[in-house]
Amino acid sequence: MTPDRPAILGGAPLRPDGPPGWPPPDPAVDAALRLLIETGAWGRYHGPHGEALRAALSETHGGCGVHLCGGGTAAVELALIGVGVTAGDEVVLAGYDFRANPANVLALGAVPAVVDVRPDDWQIDPAAIRGALGPKTRAVLVSHLHGGVVALPAVRALCDEAGVALIEDACQNPGATVHGRPAGTWGDAGVLSFGGSKPLTAGRGGAVLFPANPAGERVAARIRRHVGRGNDLSPLSEMQAAVLVPQVRALAERTRLRSENGDTLRSLPGLTPLAPAASAEMTPGFYKMGFQYDPAAYDGLPRGMFCAALRAEGVAFDPGFPALRSLFSGRRARFVGDLPQAAAAGERCVGLHHPVLLAGGEDLAAIPAAVERVRTFAGEIVRTVPLPNGGESLEL
Ligand SMILES: Cc1ncc(COP(=O)(O)O)c(C=O)c1O
Repeated sequence: MTPDRPAILGGAPLRPDGPPGWPPPDPAVDAALRLLIETGAWGRYHGPHGEALRAALSETHGGCGVHLCGGGTAAVELALIGVGVTAGDEVVLAGYDFRANPANVLALGAVPAVVDVRPDDWQIDPAAIRGALGPKTRAVLVSHLHGGVVALPAVRALCDEAGVALIEDACQNPGATVHGRPAGTWGDAGVLSFGGSKPLTAGRGGAVLFPANPAGERVAARIRRHVGRGNDLSPLSEMQAAVLVPQVRALAERTRLRSENGDTLRSLPGLTPLAPAASAEMTPGFYKMGFQYDPAAYDGLPRGMFCAALRAEGVAFDPGFPALRSLFSGRRARFVGDLPQAAAAGERCVGLHHPVLLAGGEDLAAIPAAVERVRTFAGEIVRTVPLPNGGESLEL
């Protein structure tokens, strides 16, 4: 039987109210907000909520140290400063990454040494990192992207062998289990984001995690020296901390649920997940659930149009990041080779926004149905729907 016509061709959308919103209603956050009002703590710089957040993050991250700050982008910069990156150093990172990461390296007068990602999951390639290490390398900055997992045992061993620092950006997968350890605890510094669309949200905010040992303390001390100007350069307020504490307490259960629901989307046509299947060693964390999109499975439907057609059904798919080579010139960054896989990721990555993975139910069930509808009518969409911006639209 032919499914109903897709919304982008005038049919009725599968989820007319659109994808689930974020953040969802949460009685524990309501209670935290009420308490803030009753006690007046919402207006304070410092207090018990920041302390409680640090304690909760430490407890869920293997007893690590925690520095709270104003955002994930700020946290990456503080982590770079914390491990001692200064002007003239090189920092190795992936050619497919969040654009603020190389921008942070440049802001310190350091140079991104940009390497390729692996073909199967578009995460940074350890062999490429090895090829980029040199006398100027001070740090390697790796990001787990779109549910994918960086090969951290190999990367950690490389960094130890070369005597360079490792920064693990876990802004997209808080609560994940990465090769048997909490995401964010493999590095000399780890980074979390509490941005408005993130799984742990306070609208804004971030944290640097560091090992509870003398080396970690040195990272933390450098960060404190940098932000401490008689006032905190990059603070997190009591109000932000208070709404985050209950979310951190619920993180393990919510990560498990997202991962379980994500597992139901592993066999969609022309959509190869970047995340590994859940196992004892790996519980993927989803900010976006990323896929390698194959237009051949959709009559050549360009990626941006695929996402627009799914959005029209009320399913939140978006194109991924642009490859860094399209954003930074070779004068500012050192590109190590041609980076064909990063280019492929920049052209073919799509991501499903995470709220539906927690909501489950009919919203989740609509996803395979919506994908199938778009696939069935892909040829007609290609022929009849004009392509704004060459079929590209939003980034993740
Ligand atoms: C991988 C990665 N790193 C860093 C950040 C920055 O976090 P924030 O938005 O809190 O500055 C993001 C934000 O999306 C991200 O995806």
